[in-house]
Amino acid sequence: MSISPLPQAAERLRAQGRLLDLTESNPTRCDFHYDEVRILAALADQRNLAYVADPRGLEAARAAVRAYYLARGVEVSLENIWLTASTSEAYSHLFRLLADPGARVHAPQPGYPLFDLLAGLNDLELAGYALRYDAAWELDWTDLENALTPQSRALLLLNPNNPTGSYLRAGEWPRLQAWAARHGLALIVDEVFFDYSLGDDPNRLRDATANPAALTFILSGLSKVAALPQMKLGWMLLAGPQDQAAAAARRLELILDTYLSVSAPVQNAAAALLETAPAIQAQIRLRLAANLRALDAALASLPHVSRFAIEGGWYAILRLPRLHRDDEWARRLLEHDAVYLHPGHFYNFQMEGCLVLSLLPPEADFQAGISRLLDRVAAEVAGA
Ligand SMILES: Cc1ncc(COP(=O)(O)O)c(C=O)c1O
Repeated sequence: MSISPLPQAAERLRAQGRLLDLTESNPTRCDFHYDEVRILAALADQRNLAYVADPRGLEAARAAVRAYYLARGVEVSLENIWLTASTSEAYSHLFRLLADPGARVHAPQPGYPLFDLLAGLNDLELAGYALRYDAAWELDWTDLENALTPQSRALLLLNPNNPTGSYLRAGEWPRLQAWAARHGLALIVDEVFFDYSLGDDPNRLRDATANPAALTFILSGLSKVAALPQMKLGWMLLAGPQDQAAAAARRLELILDTYLSVSAPVQNAAAALLETAPAIQAQIRLRLAANLRALDAALASLPHVSRFAIEGGWYAILRLPRLHRDDEWARRLLEHDAVYLHPGHFYNFQMEGCLVLSLLPPEADFQAGISRLLDRVAAEVAGA
């Protein structure tokens, strides 16, 4: 996804060591302390010398994924766990499974920009449905109903959403399930950021596998769960009415068997890598909270900029004065202040003046970036 020409200018500034990158969401570049000895030792495994082809993935790795869900109170059988090289790859497999070229899949707006590309690469049409903000983000049912056509095949849900950080509500889940079943749609629930909540809320959907009325796939992976995107291990959980799930499993088996794309080393290391997750997640949560506190402290002095409420995830969203469009704010910040942020339209925001920033960067960089951002807004407001 390109928001040209900003990335090129950002790369130039980065090469000069001048960029304050508030889009950074690669955890391996954010000064966290990984358990390097354990991670590297997990990859030196005698079992890596053997090739065992299993379309679902090696049983030991699936057992590690199962244990991760059990710790969350979610029970899933080994048979319903399918390993992939990434969550992104899982989307592609599911799009192939569920839809023929020209069919429609529905994704939230604002939402994760990669969906446009993933749908396009699979010759599908991506239709947005709105999340509306009124103190919290809520799914707009009317918008969802209106976008539905006979070509609709799947509804993408994010729990929590990227970038809004809003979780699905447990109370909404039976309605979503019934709605999807009525219209013959599958549900794809992306939970890559599930563990990064900013507080506990009993109303959140915790178990998307429970009592499914529609064919349901839950997606996640090491990329966010263990902050190890370079390891390339994702997974899907399959749930649904028995006959539909069995039919989907037969076809998934064929698709995954065609690629067998997950390497033995990462599968054999999966249990050990997942054991490192709690420690790295704890560091990340501390960083997210510290950066959010710094952001709120800085915003207190500038009433022209507001922040949307967040429940979790790695991002914050700001609303700037409507002196400029969001991409113009982003351009000015990059050119004049060497601060790189994503304009809201990159995430398909329908409202103007939104900027999305990552809460992951090291605290000093984050604070310097925020300070320049707010100085720019204050200067432009004063000059307007
Ligand atoms: C919502 C969401 N889903 C999926 C992914 C991709 O994860 P993976 O690295 O497993 O492909 C990302 C990456 O940022 C994401 O934000």
